Amino acid sequence: MEAFRIVGGTRLQGDVRVPGAKNSVLKLMAAALLAEGTCTLVDVPDILDVRIMAELLNRLGCEVAYEIGRGTLSVTVPSGPGHRADYDLVRAMRASISVLGPLLARQHAAEVALPGGDAIGSRGLDMHVQGLQALGAEVELRHGYLVAEAPRGLIGAEVRLEFPSVGATENLVMAAVLAKGRTVLDNVAREPEVVDLCRMLRRMGARIEGVAGSTLEIEGVEGLHPVEHRVVPDRIAAGTWAFAAAMTGGDVVVRGGESGHLELVLDKLTDAGAQVSDAMDGFRVVGPQRPRSVDVATLPYPGFPTDLQPFMVALMAVADGASMITENLFEARFRFVQEIARLGAQVRVDGHHAYVRGVPGLSGAPVEASDIRAGAALVLAGLVADGETTVHEVAHIDRGYDGLEVALRGLGADVQRIGVPAVEPI
Ligand code: EPU
Repeated sequence: MEAFRIVGGTRLQGDVRVPGAKNSVLKLMAAALLAEGTCTLVDVPDILDVRIMAELLNRLGCEVAYEIGRGTLSVTVPSGPGHRADYDLVRAMRASISVLGPLLARQHAAEVALPGGDAIGSRGLDMHVQGLQALGAEVELRHGYLVAEAPRGLIGAEVRLEFPSVGATENLVMAAVLAKGRTVLDNVAREPEVVDLCRMLRRMGARIEGVAGSTLEIEGVEGLHPVEHRVVPDRIAAGTWAFAAAMTGGDVVVRGGESGHLELVLDKLTDAGAQVSDAMDGFRVVGPQRPRSVDVATLPYPGFPTDLQPFMVALMAVADGASMITENLFEARFRFVQEIARLGAQVRVDGHHAYVRGVPGLSGAPVEASDIRAGAALVLAGLVADGETTVHEVAHIDRGYDGLEVALRGLGADVQRIGVPAVEPI
């Protein structure tokens, strides 16, 4: 078991580079299943979730080669891949369900273990299932697996999502590109990662109109061909660095960061007293001496991303004043509040609202990461806490961040990865 040991008190300064987005690359890897041959993805981060998806594709009969230094990952798909995603992998990474749509489209059958709840909430799949059923699939739950079949192939249909779910939009787009006829998907997610997927699919030969809007019109084609594709920059990693600068009163240039994907986030940071400006190949954030309080509510893109909510709680924990943070997507995302409270943050949670009363300083303590973003937010809190903070269970952080502690050290932070012996009960 590993942990990060952080000694707080450094003002972060320097340049940091953002890799391709985790939440895009995982779906692009799944999309490779739609064509026989080799798809190559560029700017792929070296994170645990990419390795889990690679293992999943391996078990489906694909060959995955990853050149870490160059961030290049290629997926070679055979003419007849398998169609089952095992429980051990889906359990380890919920995004495994994004193979459901492509397998059903290409193999006309898919068996994907049903993911349970996770640390950020119950996370339903009803929209994925109803959408695939509308495209003609029969879907049922058998022995803990979603078993989907469309023996004569999928057929285009009109589907209106109840909520712009990222995962359901992606699964349905990947299913519809090889369906017979025309599919109209309404009220879809517009996250940059969804747009990235649509762009790659179009380059593979898919016919998709309305990309980046709320309605996608897809004309099914007979087959797709493999391509090389550069992954969209990780806006949540870029946002993490923006918060890191804002929290520590630092001065950080986020290279490769797409500020246009973070407009509302950067506006909120400006309201909190940070200075944000354009920089060559990215943007620069200079943090205030002490942040001002601002209110935030999470919403689907282009709203404030739920993935950056824990960072906002951490920033507001040391702000001058009180603020209200509202979580509208994942009900359990405030669980980490109990951990940040160990550092002295004053946060009261009431349903999906967190009322944060800023304090002048936090004090270092051992804490535990419960998910990727909560873990990274605790690391940032440790950077401004007095003394030493140990963030346990960093495997969660490694799922989504490519060498977080190395990049932090590059900006001057005192952060070490340490081994923690497991406690053996007598
Ligand atoms: N939902 C349903 N039914 C469905 C689908 C979703 O009720 O069929 C609900 C969920 O329970 C949730 C809401 O809709 O309350 C939003 O879920 P969505 O489907 O949009 O999210 P996701 O696809 O499961 C992705 C990211 C998350 C990110 C969300 C929201 C990946 C692998 N994950 O999840 O990222 O928070 O979109 O933007 O793309 C992370 O990176 O740490 C992470 C959790």
